[in-house]
Amino acid sequence: MTIDHPSFGRIDDDRIIIFDTTLRDGEQSPGFSMNIDEKLRMADLLASLGVDVIEAGFPVASQGDFDSVYEIAKAIRGPVICGLARTGGRDDIARAGEAIRPAERRRIHNFISTSPLHMKYKLRMEPETVLDLITRGNTEARNYTDDVEWSAEDGSRTEPDFLCRCVEAAIRAGATTINIPDTVGYATPDDIEALFAMLRERVPGAETVIFSAHNHNDLGLAVANTLAAVRGGARQIECTINGIGERAGNAALEEIAMAIRTRPDAMPYRHNIVTEHLLRTSRMLATITGFDVQPNKAIVGRNAFAHESGIHQDGVLKNAATYEIMTPESVGWTKSSLVLGKHSGRAAFRDKLRALGYGELGDNQINDAFARFKDLADRKKVVYDEDLVALVDDEVRDH
Ligand code: KIV
Ligand code: ZN
Repeated sequence: MTIDHPSFGRIDDDRIIIFDTTLRDGEQSPGFSMNIDEKLRMADLLASLGVDVIEAGFPVASQGDFDSVYEIAKAIRGPVICGLARTGGRDDIARAGEAIRPAERRRIHNFISTSPLHMKYKLRMEPETVLDLITRGNTEARNYTDDVEWSAEDGSRTEPDFLCRCVEAAIRAGATTINIPDTVGYATPDDIEALFAMLRERVPGAETVIFSAHNHNDLGLAVANTLAAVRGGARQIECTINGIGERAGNAALEEIAMAIRTRPDAMPYRHNIVTEHLLRTSRMLATITGFDVQPNKAIVGRNAFAHESGIHQDGVLKNAATYEIMTPESVGWTKSSLVLGKHSGRAAFRDKLRALGYGELGDNQINDAFARFKDLADRKKVVYDEDLVALVDDEVRDH
């Protein structure tokens, strides 16, 4: 199946569009807001990273958000620049249309809730009113751009027949991307795969649009759900750097990008992410927001390529593939690190001493130093280079 898309032209079936929402959904995490300069710096990095779409903000939300989207649309070339709008919000679509105007390629992303719970308690609207707004909102958005995305907020908890009617209405009114969010991170991978497959099979016109997945991480399933959505036929993935986003966050871009690159046998898809830029993009976001990622975070965490146990260190020194499924360089690290601690072995110890310039130590000196190192490692969590230098200098002096 090949789709003719207003921004991307002909899209082959194995092509995954990466839609980054770090600057919109990501920024909605408590304490993560960014000023215009910071957003511009991030947008520039996202463009070098190769994302296809940057969701730059929610222009009607504040003058600051409008200005950020406008400045990004003016300055950033390469990705499609997207502004968020409520379907049926008072000035939302006009403000979004105005904010993205300077962009080379531009998108309006409009959304409205479709689940019974949200329609009844949040919107206080009847389903037929929601359907009417979907038609009106997408028709209005098409006045500003041919690239229109529509989202069914709380889509994964929406009654299937009604969801089909909503998606059909959005397509008829001109939406070219249909996003089905798991807004509250409730779905399982099986649910998500079946949901996309059902929509693609049942909705008239489904074959003319791109389906998109947007998964939150409340149960820690956002990345798994996103990959399941691709199996069900989604070809756009909405994600954020470091997985930041509302509550427990969104699906992490770096994890999805590397899952697809590392396992082409299981996931035969293509994306345009320059994976060597992943680490620097993650680090810049952490610097700007002041929130570092946890050490064991896949791909970009401090320990993602660090080995402490002796058995692992020995294996990595002989052949890194024994304990590494991708190279550290492929995601922007300079090399894997052997961290010395109480589980480390003689091979890593000797290797580290060589790296520190102690090439000429005899076996006895190494053995004595290793015994003292183990003693120290029992007392200290991690033995740093300066501890080793002190320890070995002592050893050399004593002999
Ligand atoms: O999680 C969600 O439903 C959203 C929509 C606005 C797309 O972020
Ligand atoms: Zn979201």
